[in-house]
Amino acid sequence: MRQLALFGQSESGGAIGFGPERARIEARFAPIMREELALGRLVSYVGNKSVPLLRLYRYKEAFSLGFVEEFIRRFLLDGDDYILDPFCGMGTTLVAAMKRQVPSVGIDKLPLATFVADALIRLAALEPGVLYATYDKLRARVADAEPARVAGDVSIMKVAFVPEILEILRKWKSVIDDLETPLREVFLLLFFSILEPCSYTSKDGQFLRLRRDKPVADPGEVLGRKVMEAERDLRLFRQVIGDVRLAPRPEIITGDARALGDMGFDRPPTAVITSPPYANRYDYTRTYSLELCFHFVRNFEELKALRFGILRSHIESRVEENERPPHPAIEELVDALESQGRDLNNPRIPHMLTAYFVDMRQVIRQLGAVLAPGAKVAMVVDNVRFGGELVPVDLVLCEMAEEFGFKVTEVIVARYKGNSSQQMGKYGRVPVRESVVVWEKDR
Ligand SMILES: C[S@@+](CC[C@H](N)C(=O)[O-])C[C@H]1O[C@@H](n2cnc3c(N)ncnc32)[C@H](O)[C@@H]1O
Repeated sequence: MRQLALFGQSESGGAIGFGPERARIEARFAPIMREELALGRLVSYVGNKSVPLLRLYRYKEAFSLGFVEEFIRRFLLDGDDYILDPFCGMGTTLVAAMKRQVPSVGIDKLPLATFVADALIRLAALEPGVLYATYDKLRARVADAEPARVAGDVSIMKVAFVPEILEILRKWKSVIDDLETPLREVFLLLFFSILEPCSYTSKDGQFLRLRRDKPVADPGEVLGRKVMEAERDLRLFRQVIGDVRLAPRPEIITGDARALGDMGFDRPPTAVITSPPYANRYDYTRTYSLELCFHFVRNFEELKALRFGILRSHIESRVEENERPPHPAIEELVDALESQGRDLNNPRIPHMLTAYFVDMRQVIRQLGAVLAPGAKVAMVVDNVRFGGELVPVDLVLCEMAEEFGFKVTEVIVARYKGNSSQQMGKYGRVPVRESVVVWEKDR
């Protein structure tokens, strides 16, 4: 087996921030760590660009259907199993489970995510042609509609749109709101997917960027095109995935993965295929703020409540006085970041890392409590690097899993990512793993 971890030196010869605790866990897990770079394409959303329906809404933190199918195969799951995705996002795991006729349940704290997951499944069950007919009816009513309420006090809403376009979008939202289920949910999903092209925003990289030079699309036209894409995908989906009306319908819950004990599962899940938020400062409530402001929150206060209610992987995450890094490697890392006086580009990073690992430990504890004996877990995680210090998120989570009754069977490196250009410029280029950690619950 090729030596995977690089200790001591970066590709460009600079020193890697890596203390003895991190060296210890790297050495400990080295025998079960292997590369499988063919999975690299599957751990990101890119693999879904060819999947009908899933490509209609760009939830860019998703993994691909092929990834989930691969692990359903590897874990030998069938109709007697019950798959849990505690961070289900747009529901990729749930759709793959339906395709393979395995019952499943998905949880996500972001109401937009569970809405999208549910709407996609509703869309897959529609009769072809219904969307065209509904679109024509809506188009006839939109000019006279009363604009829907939006969370207009959120600052991005004040700058993201040309005022006339915002008015038209609010009218479309209003006529869609009047539809009955499931067309209401399906049209809202299509509507959410046009907010980016109809605005000056762009979901690039880590943030929702404002790009004033961007051409802005006409809502009615772009929604019409989306309807055509959805009709086409509906037909293709039936050919590629099958008729979801014949598959077990997943349960979808807007809830917190840190409180799985409260979910009242029908029976203990026998497998988990998931990907949590990464410890990379990413804030879902910012990237998806337009969607949230149009439908899920009434004002900035409610948006803030969502921001502080999700897993603490972003920079504004609050840490309680009594919270400490919950693992020796994280303690070492936080000390290194705080005490070496590194010029961190944000002094809140150590707090975020503490909070992130406290939260993930709680999620793993809960998984240990709710899963069936022998349950298998595949979790995609990204390592990160701040102030030159490497954070082996994958291995720290593995040691936490051992604490709560799991055996770590594999750490599969799916791909290596570079660092931010800022990190590279300052500390040298060091490959950072994106891994699939595989665990089995004790029997
Ligand atoms: C990497 S994404 C998962 C994407 C998913 N695999 C898919 O294919 O769409 C992580 C998800 O965790 C969700 N999340 C954040 N905090 C959460 C929490 N406390 N409980 C459950 N889900 C949470 C985010 O909203 C996001 O959808």
